[in-house]
Amino acid sequence: NDESTVSITVVGASGDLAKKKIFPALFALYYEDCLPKHFTIFGYARSKMTDAELRNMVSKTLTCRIDKRCLTRLDFVTTILNILRENCNEKMEEFLKRCFYHSGQYDSEEHFMDLDKKLKQHEGSRVSDRLFYLSIPPNIFLDVVKCASKSASSANGWTRVIVEKPFGRDSDSSAALTRGLKQYLVEDQIFRIDHYLGKELVENLSVLRFSNLVFEPLWSRQYIRNVQLIFSEDFGTEGRGGYFDRYGIIRDIMQNHLLQILALFAMETPVSLEAEDIRNEKVKVLRSMKPLQLEDVVIGQYKSHTKGGTTYPGYTEDKTVPKDSITPTFAAAALFINNARWDGVPFLMKAGKALHTKGAEIRVQFRHVPGNLYKRSFGTDLDTATNELVIRVQPDEAIYLKINNKIPGLGMRLDRSNLNLHYAARYSKEIPDAYERLLLDAIEGERRLFIRSDELDAAWELFTPLLKELEEKRIAPELYPYGSRGPVGAHYLAAKYNVRWGDLTTEQKA
Ligand code: BG6
Repeated sequence: NDESTVSITVVGASGDLAKKKIFPALFALYYEDCLPKHFTIFGYARSKMTDAELRNMVSKTLTCRIDKRCLTRLDFVTTILNILRENCNEKMEEFLKRCFYHSGQYDSEEHFMDLDKKLKQHEGSRVSDRLFYLSIPPNIFLDVVKCASKSASSANGWTRVIVEKPFGRDSDSSAALTRGLKQYLVEDQIFRIDHYLGKELVENLSVLRFSNLVFEPLWSRQYIRNVQLIFSEDFGTEGRGGYFDRYGIIRDIMQNHLLQILALFAMETPVSLEAEDIRNEKVKVLRSMKPLQLEDVVIGQYKSHTKGGTTYPGYTEDKTVPKDSITPTFAAAALFINNARWDGVPFLMKAGKALHTKGAEIRVQFRHVPGNLYKRSFGTDLDTATNELVIRVQPDEAIYLKINNKIPGLGMRLDRSNLNLHYAARYSKEIPDAYERLLLDAIEGERRLFIRSDELDAAWELFTPLLKELEEKRIAPELYPYGSRGPVGAHYLAAKYNVRWGDLTTEQKA
């Protein structure tokens, strides 16, 4: 709307997340002409900085999205690249001119009033919509929300607040945070980010299921043997040990990112694509689940490892981590959904840092073909070759279905092949970062990809008893070497449910 203007305030502007993700995402949106015509961006933090210094800081993090895959088909690659670069540089300059800085304390209404004055100067007589992105530690969420809502909310448009996890450490602290936020905001103003929901292939899950005939009829206990949700990073907590040690991998990845994927994967068909309809279905899945049981969980922590002359430090060697920390950096768990569709199907989650590979994927292993004609005629070679659907969320996005296929030739030999949708080969456009999609949705008031408070409560209810038990009993994690495949206990856990973990690395090479 030409008559309105959006002011985006990034609170915690000098922090890592702001620098690495938020400002670059805002620029990418601007570059793609997705931001409203009138907008202003304010960085807010305690340190003293001028507008020019902020711009300088931000400019270092901006990149241009040049579609190189298209360009390789052109003759005048260099010329075109230069034109695009120039255009991009121009856009960067324009973008930076719209970025400003305001220094203030996080708990000072007065400082937020000063911000309000500055915002008003930029907004002029237009209807002003205001978005606050809280890129700050959770212990100051409430201070900022109080000050922002009392002293800097919009007088004539909407005011929305984006918050990042951690949303508490368990059911009680999360509920307290929600109560606190709701003293100053209504639920519709709160945008709880789970950036995994903004990832292209996670968003595509519903499209895959509900707009194709071939998947949905198979999407149940009748045909699916197990589902695996895997997150793996090939680096440790370097530099983030202080935050991480208070939370651990279960709270950092499983209770949010992997559980959100699970809910989208398993939900019933929503009444519509409206946010409330989708979120209603997700909550139903979460509320149909049994809280995690200790015997269905394996935890691990990485230890130092020397490889090729380089020594990689163990988790407790991080200076910001207590020497005797038993915080898990790896966890595997089996979860169950007690409803008609999924009764008895294990959903296995695995998440870890400092592992041998980096990636996130969803694996759906199907049941055996009943009375398999080929197995009967050609022996037991095909015993394990059940179909498997793999959704590779990152890196190198892909969806592939493993099938049995006849090896061409006169004889009758079968092998496993992939029906493969490889994004880089199929789509020339670069995939936007999750934060771009989520920021745009927040500006547009689209809540589908944000977490509603009842979803959050249900998610905590599943994990809180387990987390308490782990902490009360001081259960020691199984140590695994930095860069390895993680604790061997994860394999026993899978074996207990007749499952073998899929292996991202071997397939990436294939
Ligand atoms: C964050 C976690 O939510 O997600 C980090 O706090 C993790 O520990 C990160 O590294 C992973 O996100 P991505 O998008 O890089 O897979």
